Amino acid sequence: MDNGASEKVSGQKPALINPTIREDAGGVVILDQTRLPHATSFVRLETLEDAAHAIRVMQVRGAPLIGATAAYGVALGLAADTSDDRLQYVIETLAATRPTAVNLHWALARMRRVLENSALATRRDSAWNEARAIADEDKGANAALGQHGLGMLRAVRRDDQPVNVMTHCNAGRLATVEHGTALAPVYAAHAAGLAVHVWVSETRPRNQGLLTAWELKEAGVPHTLIVDNAAGLLLMQGKVDLVIVGADRIAANGDAANKVGTYLKALAARAHAVPFYVAAPLSTIDFACLTGADIPIEERAAEELGAGEVTVANPAFDVTPAALISGIISERGIAAADSLAQWTP
Ligand code: MRU
Repeated sequence: MDNGASEKVSGQKPALINPTIREDAGGVVILDQTRLPHATSFVRLETLEDAAHAIRVMQVRGAPLIGATAAYGVALGLAADTSDDRLQYVIETLAATRPTAVNLHWALARMRRVLENSALATRRDSAWNEARAIADEDKGANAALGQHGLGMLRAVRRDDQPVNVMTHCNAGRLATVEHGTALAPVYAAHAAGLAVHVWVSETRPRNQGLLTAWELKEAGVPHTLIVDNAAGLLLMQGKVDLVIVGADRIAANGDAANKVGTYLKALAARAHAVPFYVAAPLSTIDFACLTGADIPIEERAAEELGAGEVTVANPAFDVTPAALISGIISERGIAAADSLAQWTP
């Protein structure tokens, strides 16, 4: 499905630090992730509907990037009408796009707070300013968590061998405004000259692992793509020093929702005594959600499995219990999953 917006900007080769999202003369340009890794094309978002569509069909994806896109979607949605009714409609429309990644709802709540206190005449400018701040803060948070994770990669290094990191889905640059979350420590290690190799898990049905392989290749980081279900074998064989995944929502008790299949990796990592870390900015921690059981799990369309006329269940995320998580890495440092209260805003 395409709303035609992809025709508006296309054919540019992204720079190494590819801009997943950027402002452009009253609009917003995004890298269309539904076309990767086969084609790099950009889509110009000009309306609320463009932004909602981009999130829903996963032209943008990954919790932090969804949040930034939603924030810009509010600014786009107020172009012709800044009234309270319009603001309510814009926020409701964007909130209905995807349920699990809390960054979306966090960004919308933040936009609402700022804009409800802004005069109608200046509301549109305030929306752009706040969306820009959300995007900029995401870059800063991910850069900081990358440095915290780098210390951990140094600590697990064995005998001058490359550190073998396993990740799942895409929690790299593409999933954020910049730097990534799970991959931020990897990029920090690569930049610091610490040898690192990434086992990249493929993630059915949307194949986000291919996105991870694409961006690691762009960055020159050694990596190997595996099917989801090869992870247990590699963990058993001692080929993984640690697992780092991202998160779409972390509950107050440290239970973490991430792309479906993450939980199985955590179980296998525990069985083979391999550390299992979750990397996410504070905007992914939902202190109002007490446990993982309270996290809404997105059920996506059966068609994504390409199975034809059979009954299909397609939950897009699962929840890894805090007890299986060695630590949560955020911009504030590394914390035990059951001690997130120290980061309460
Ligand atoms: O369905 P997606 O591709 O949006 O899911 C993305 C993930 O599950 C990521 O691992 C998560 O959002 C962390 S992104 C830094």
